Amino acid sequence: MTTVVKFENVGLRYGTGAEVLRDISLRLDAGSLHFLTGPSGAGKTSLLKLLYLAQQPSRGLISIFGHDVVTMKRDMRPGLRQRIGVVFQDFRLLNHLSAFDNVAVPLRVRGVEEGRCVNMLANSSIGWG
Ligand SMILES: Nc1ncnc2c1ncn2[C@@H]1O[C@H](COP(=O)(O)OP(=O)(O)OP(=O)(O)O)[C@@H](O)[C@H]1O
Ligand SMILES: [Mg+2]
Repeated sequence: MTTVVKFENVGLRYGTGAEVLRDISLRLDAGSLHFLTGPSGAGKTSLLKLLYLAQQPSRGLISIFGHDVVTMKRDMRPGLRQRIGVVFQDFRLLNHLSAFDNVAVPLRVRGVEEGRCVNMLANSSIGWG
């Protein structure tokens, strides 16, 4: 079984505050499904930010797709982020763009050629009508 995410004794503090996550150790295998629950302030969003590389741990080891997130070269991070799909509650669409152009933003940012971009979205399961 491929391990996609591994945390070992991870701790996170914001600034000089107390640790909001302490001694988190977990392993997520490819194809597995997990739920993260807890009361407000428990640290769910903080843990997810560590997972999608928006936050660095204050201590411990985090490995994503086999790469240590603390020691990996900076220019590796965007490529890894592109392999992680996140659906945010507040999806912040860009008002001046159509629905199609909003969905196309990540492809265009990655430099996908326009014709291919249109094909990919037209063949997706999204109904544009
Ligand atoms: N950017 C930040 N700077 C300082 N403290 C923060 C920051 N973000 C979160 N915290 C603190 O970290 C702790 C965990 O917050 P977090 O937002 O991760 O919890 P949560 O489980 O997602 O809560 P909720 O269910 O309300 O979304 C809280 O005490 C919060 O005040
Ligand atoms: Mg939250």
